[in-house]
Amino acid sequence: MSSLADLANLKGRRAVVVGGGGGIGRAVTLALVGEGVTVAVADKNAAALEETAGSVAAAGVRIVSAVADVRDSSQLSAFYDLVDMEFPSLDILINVAGGVRRRPFMETTSEQRDEDIRLNYGYVLDSIQRAVPIMRRGARGGSIVNFTTIEAQRGAAGFSVYAGAKAALRNFTRALAVELGHERIRVNCIAPDSTPSAGNRNALAAETIAELERLPAEVHAAGVRMAIPMEEAVPEQQLANAALFLASDLSAYITGASLPVDGGTSASLGFVNWPFGDGPLPIPLAGTYRRLFADGQNGRDGE
Ligand SMILES: NC(=O)c1ccc[n+]([C@@H]2O[C@H](COP(=O)([O-])OP(=O)(O)OC[C@H]3O[C@@H](n4cnc5c(N)ncnc54)[C@H](O)[C@@H]3O)[C@@H](O)[C@H]2O)c1
Repeated sequence: MSSLADLANLKGRRAVVVGGGGGIGRAVTLALVGEGVTVAVADKNAAALEETAGSVAAAGVRIVSAVADVRDSSQLSAFYDLVDMEFPSLDILINVAGGVRRRPFMETTSEQRDEDIRLNYGYVLDSIQRAVPIMRRGARGGSIVNFTTIEAQRGAAGFSVYAGAKAALRNFTRALAVELGHERIRVNCIAPDSTPSAGNRNALAAETIAELERLPAEVHAAGVRMAIPMEEAVPEQQLANAALFLASDLSAYITGASLPVDGGTSASLGFVNWPFGDGPLPIPLAGTYRRLFADGQNGRDGE
């Protein structure tokens, strides 16, 4: 009988993790290293990268790392020059780097929009174009995993440019899966919703985060229960587990897919778990309306 590790067949493989120094990326890097994969990591955050690469190297495991802001094509290219030199071939590419700051579309500048598109779609195209020739040297296929988001499939107000870029990434992934299928190079997405990482905090203004953190724990938990069917934000490790699955032979015939790792929010699509016994519904029942808006207020500031 085969063990899970035998079926996954990750040991001895080589991977690139773009944005693998911190947040979900760090969890992905450490998970791959834990399965015996040799990893090359690029990250713009030198301190986070040093911590991640340092802990891997301190355990006596080889890791290749480079500080690079991957929005800058020359920095991304210099990282791949290093990978090209260090790795005889490549089996796995995980494009994790991405993110956004909540901002009404009409207040965005052209420069901000270009940056959001580059970080959440553009660099991934360059990353894949550099990685695939190194994968081809191995002549045993490969697995590419792109991080999209739940916002790629819903009307994410305040995140519109990000939502559009990640939706483009989602459909690019489908198309490329078809193009590269005959080479056994698989291309898939992971779609998180709410995972408490540095990137997740950066999506909101610092004072908004500070206010949220001042809430009593039970009040915060009640809000999370309304929004997430599994009643908990998804831990970083769970995204790393999904990346291991898609990187490994456990998913050998899965390509062009997007795997939601969101505790059920993409499934609920507008159903909210209202309090006061209503349960999941798109709008609350009468008692909840009365309790939430008993004083005749409609809950909107300035109205
Ligand atoms: N955390 C969430 O709730 C959430 C939700 C939906 C989608 N996602 C997606 O998941 C991915 C990871 O999110 P995260 O919350 O861990 O993000 P994060 O901001 O914590 O970033 C992960 C790593 O990427 C690095 N990085 C960011 N921009 C970079 C750049 N320009 N060049 C090089 N490295 C860069 C960061 O330094 C960090 O080490 C992103 O693509 C994000 O859009 C996250």
